[in-house]
Amino acid sequence: MRDLAQTVIQRIEALGEISDEPGRLTRTFCSPAMREANSLVGSWMREAGMEVRQDAIGNLIGHYSEKSPKSKVQSPKSSAQKILLLGSHLDTVRDAGKFDGPLGVLVAIACVQALNDARIRLPFAIEVIGFSDEEGVRYQSAYLGSKVLAGTFSRKELTRTDANGVTMTDAIRNFGGNPDGLAAAQLDPKRLLGYAEVHIEQGPVLEQQNLSVGAVTAIAGQTRVKLTFTGRAGHAGTTPMNLRRDALCAASEFVLAAEFFAQRRNGLVATVGEITALPGASNVIPGRVQLSLDVRHPNDARRRAAVAALKKRADAIAAHRKVNFDWQLVHQAPAVTCDRQFSSLLSKAVKHRQRKLVLLHSGAGHDAAAMAAVTPVTMLFVRCKKGISHHPDESASVRDVRVAIGVMSDFIGLLYAAP
Ligand code: HGY
Ligand code: MN
Ligand code: MN
Repeated sequence: MRDLAQTVIQRIEALGEISDEPGRLTRTFCSPAMREANSLVGSWMREAGMEVRQDAIGNLIGHYSEKSPKSKVQSPKSSAQKILLLGSHLDTVRDAGKFDGPLGVLVAIACVQALNDARIRLPFAIEVIGFSDEEGVRYQSAYLGSKVLAGTFSRKELTRTDANGVTMTDAIRNFGGNPDGLAAAQLDPKRLLGYAEVHIEQGPVLEQQNLSVGAVTAIAGQTRVKLTFTGRAGHAGTTPMNLRRDALCAASEFVLAAEFFAQRRNGLVATVGEITALPGASNVIPGRVQLSLDVRHPNDARRRAAVAALKKRADAIAAHRKVNFDWQLVHQAPAVTCDRQFSSLLSKAVKHRQRKLVLLHSGAGHDAAAMAAVTPVTMLFVRCKKGISHHPDESASVRDVRVAIGVMSDFIGLLYAAP
């Protein structure tokens, strides 16, 4: 009997070597590394008895057919069958950890592998999805893959360009996707039972409570903004301090103002993760600075109010420093509550395997947040060491992965038994 948890950990390590950048793990939307990852994960899906396809936006989808009444395996085209969706994303942030995303895809494959090894076919199909872009690193807009399946993708996004000026349309086409087929790729809600995602917690709670897994109640909403402060470049040696319009000093004042603002508001987090100072020479006063702003809160109204207040703050800093500033909303996703009924089955499965059930709110975004637009969603968190994530030290234990596989297999069984 194969040790499915050990296999998941080995596969996490193998996937962790597939990167667009030497010496660190970075795998972005429609990149060469993504193509390699899809091919490797696709082979594991086939090994588990799934038919594999790649959809118009590069999502990798493994289909485990249901058992037809005549005990023949039906093709994925029949309309009668219902489908349970499992999965997570295969893209990563820059200099990423190996578990954020891939863990959910590989645990899902392990659950199907267990069914296939036992020659079990269910009265519903299972589709395991490796989403093509959850992090939004290449085009700053997250959930591209899940938004296409949920039918909430806006064609406007196709005109976005990446750091090399490549449009999203061209990136999709070059990857072998079909930018004109995105609407047709939307899933039919009538055929879906729901979507369940396994993900590392990316926080400290499970470790503090010494638990392997926890059920997720809700996913925080998020707003991502691109700010540009424009002052005047000048000579670092000859421009007196009182005559400067230093864009980097304005941006720096804003970065600290955002931190100060969030530190004093419960549940609010604000992060500037990217900053570029131009022209970028040590003896030139920066004339233009671009920075990202990421704002999250469990309550959408509080998040929106915080974003409005921070925009006002940036405006005041720019006026005071006589620089111009531009504020461009690049991504916005509402907070999402996991489906009660679906989550109660998951909670039952957790209690069966772990006795103690802890319910967690997710400060991180997940594809489940986008999939909630088309089907009920639920999530299982897995303990990760010191809560570290979006960092190479991210890790989860084989023991906790084994518990997660057991819980998800029991969850599938409960779904089968559900009236
Ligand atoms: O940024 C996030 O919350 C997630 O990791 N995409
Ligand atoms: Mn993730
Ligand atoms: Mn992430």
